[in-house]
Amino acid sequence: MAKIVNREEMAQGTIIMQVGDVYFALIGPLGAPTHIENFGKVVCVGGGTGIAVLHPIARALKQAGNEVTTILGARSYDLLIMEDKMRAASDHFHICTDDGSHGHHGFVTDVLKDVLEKDNMDLAVAIGPIPMMKFCSLITKEKNVKTFVSLNPIMVDGTGMCGCCRVSVGGDTKFACVDGPEFDGHKVDFDELAKRLASYLDEERTSLETFEKCKAQ
Ligand code: FES
Repeated sequence: MAKIVNREEMAQGTIIMQVGDVYFALIGPLGAPTHIENFGKVVCVGGGTGIAVLHPIARALKQAGNEVTTILGARSYDLLIMEDKMRAASDHFHICTDDGSHGHHGFVTDVLKDVLEKDNMDLAVAIGPIPMMKFCSLITKEKNVKTFVSLNPIMVDGTGMCGCCRVSVGGDTKFACVDGPEFDGHKVDFDELAKRLASYLDEERTSLETFEKCKAQ
């Protein structure tokens, strides 16, 4: 019979879920919806698990009539997710791997520079690790291409009350959970965000070790 994992068990942090187990509760969607319209030519850049977030956005942009160029990156080809789905949502498609196991040997930023040299883009969407979003935004800023990024600060309540997810955007404090998660990439203080995300690294390491130990038992 399926086990229902409740909030108290989750709080202990040692739950290992099995296939068929279910969460007691989930809330969502939270935050502001993505603004979709026919911008014209859009370049979508995705890295790591950010690709899962990028997929419905790229698909909606294509359905709205945009010409979508997609650039996906991963450390290695075996870590790349949703290739087929992203390909189906794109008019032009590029893969980059850090180790050269597939596609361009290098970073998404190399291909982004290339795409922007060859074509005039009306919008860029970059979703992935913070350094990737930061450097994509720097590149698109040089070309004056409006860019939005999806931010993933640490969140607690997800409803705008705890302040944990605050980010600086154009000098203003925003809460990613209610004001975002998407913001103008040219205005985000990525260095501050990276610092805040590293606040609980020791605790995260301890949690991972505990998880590994439980899994081994
Ligand atoms: S997660 Fe608490 S305010 Fe956003």
